[in-house]
This record gives sequence, C-alpha cells and structure tokens, in this order.
Amino acid sequence: MYVNIDQAFVTLATTDNYAKGAMVLGKSLRNHNTSKKLVALIGPHVSEPSRAVLRKVYDEVRLVDVLDSGDAAHLAMMKRPDLGVTFTKLHGWTLTEYSKCVFMDADTLVLSNIDELFEREELSAAPDPGWPDCFNSGVFVFRPSNETYGKLLTTCSENGSFDGGDQGILNSFFSDWATADISKHLPFIYNLSSIAIYTYLPAFKQYGRDAKVVHFLGKVKPWDYSYDATSKTLKGQSQDASDMHPNFLLQWWELFSSSVLSLMKEEYGDQPFHSGCTESDIHVDVAQMHISHHPPPPQMSSQERKQKWEHGQADYMGLDSFENIEKKLDSFLK
Ligand code: UDP
Ligand code: GLC
Ligand code: MN
Repeated sequence: MYVNIDQAFVTLATTDNYAKGAMVLGKSLRNHNTSKKLVALIGPHVSEPSRAVLRKVYDEVRLVDVLDSGDAAHLAMMKRPDLGVTFTKLHGWTLTEYSKCVFMDADTLVLSNIDELFEREELSAAPDPGWPDCFNSGVFVFRPSNETYGKLLTTCSENGSFDGGDQGILNSFFSDWATADISKHLPFIYNLSSIAIYTYLPAFKQYGRDAKVVHFLGKVKPWDYSYDATSKTLKGQSQDASDMHPNFLLQWWELFSSSVLSLMKEEYGDQPFHSGCTESDIHVDVAQMHISHHPPPPQMSSQERKQKWEHGQADYMGLDSFENIEKKLDSFLK
C-alpha cells in the first residue's frame, strides 16, 4: 500500500489511561487502512508495558516533556483541573520531519477512513459544541514548524490560556478561524462529541450515521466504564445499552477487547494491570450482579443535574439516557 511518509496522525498520552485511549484510536485508524504514519507523543509517567503496546500500534512513540499551564483558576472554570497538561499537545509542532499532521485526542475513535483530512490546511478543525465560534482542539490539521511552536509558547507565557488548556491557546493564536476561510471548518462529523448528541438530538438522528470520528469529550471517558466481553455489555451501568451514545462506547470497548487487550496481556505478563474488561461466564456474572447491587444514587435536583451535564458528566446510562431524552423531546413535540 502507498504510505505517505511525511504525513502523520498524532496523538498524546501522559498517563496509562490515556495510553489505552491512544491504543484504541491507533487500532481504529489502522482498521480503516490509513496510508499515513501514526505518531504517539507520551509523557514520562506512561509505564514501560504501555509504551511497548503503543510501539506495536504506532510507527513512532516519542517521549516529550509534559508542559503544564498550571493555570488553576481557568481550569477550575471548566471543572477540569486535570487539563493543564494538554499544553503538551503543542509539542506536535516540533514533529518537523512531517510536512502535515492531523492531531487527534486520545479519547477519539475513528469510524471510517479519514485520510482526506490531509487535503486541508493549517489550522482546520470542527466547531466546539459548547462555543461554536471556537474550534474544538480534539481533532485538527496542522503543519509542524519550530517557528510556530516558538510563537505558540510565547503566546502561552505572555497571555496564558483562557481555558487553561491547549484549546484556549490555539483559538487565541489561530484567531481568524471563525471568519477567514470556511475550508478550515471541518464538518462536525469529524469530531462528533457526545455532548452534542444530547443538546441537538434530532440533528444527531438525521446525520449521526455519517459520523467519521467520535470524541468522548468530558470528564467521564470510555476507560472509566467496565465491559463484559462475553455478553458485550457495559457493566456496573444500566443493562440497556441500546442508547446511541452507549453504542459508540460499545464500539470502543469491542475494539479494546478484540484488538488491544491481547497486546496488553503480552506486554504486562505477570504484572497486574487494570483492563476494565472481563470475560466472565454470563451465569457467574448475573450471580455477581445480585451480590454487588448498589442502592440507587440519591436524587439530584434538576439544577444539579443540569450543572453536571454542562460539565460533561451526564448520566448517559440512567436519567440522561437517549431513551429518556427522546421521551422528553416527544412530549414537547406533541
Ligand atoms: N491528555 C493526556 N493526559 C491528561 C489529560 C489529557 O494525555 O492527563 C491528552 C489526551 O490526548 C486527551 C487530550 O489531552 O485526549 C485532551 O484531554 P481530554 O480529552 O481529557 O479533554 P476533553 O476532550 O474531555 O475536553
Ligand atoms: C477541550 C478539548 C480538548 C482540550 C481541552 C483543553 O474541551 O476537547 O481537546 O485539550 O479543551 O483546552
Ligand atoms: Mn478529548
């Protein structure tokens, strides 16, 4: 197959959990026959076995310094104190052996071949579902350049980031994205975030099937759930996995259990690791469910629930399930 050696998909993982996301993302790109190189940037805290798995999936695994905005005030506004390290993404611009790259967050999953993104120019990205005049920095096209890297770092130190993370910096730096050139607006199907499904369900029903990239944006990530590979269900959650968003989650887990878990087992050997995935006998599982049955969580006020939702902590499997939201919409439409 023809391989573009000077174009690459790039992701970032500073922890073993995000590394799991990167493994699934890399496999999803390979399964859809990308002709591009795959590069994973990792921080020093990623364990050796996880690095070894990444090396099996990616063409290049590069250790980078973790850049941290340390900007507690702005990050607190997003309720995501963990996102300061996303400044590390900026290292992507130092990959100057590539002429063009597409950055993808480690919490994205590719559903079809997206190599056509390389026809776009820097900086192309899809709108952020929370503030569509900004782009979301989970998927973007860029051109590595030490000069741009230097300017980005200067912007960081002089002005800081309005959200404390990379997305604030990148939007300030590529500030004409919203107005200058419509070809730099990627269609939303290249960065379909779960939040949008719940804010504009009819559009999701109309266009969702065209999704090319799903982005599990928000505090709760696919690897925070657990999965039973035998019954193909998400465990510890509602047993009804027919919701749309959980379907994407199930796709993530199916890929993890079918293609990534075996690589992790090989590399971790006797060392214990948390896979989040069980291959239990269904009967045993049902029995365990009775024993470990948790009491229902205390009722939340609708204000609390709204706040949680706005912070990406929707109860996708329960109160905020696709089915419940659909019922609510139907009642308005009647
Ligand atoms: N990331 C990382 N370690 C962290 C937090 C973030 O490696 O502790 C990377 C990872 O690639 C992740 C991206 O930065 O996908 C952006 O963070 P996240 O996806 O959590 O932000 P969200 O999309 O939920 O706003
Ligand atoms: C966003 C983006 C993510 C970025 C974060 C911090 O919500 O989805 O990619 O790292 O903000 O700026
Ligand atoms: Mn993300």
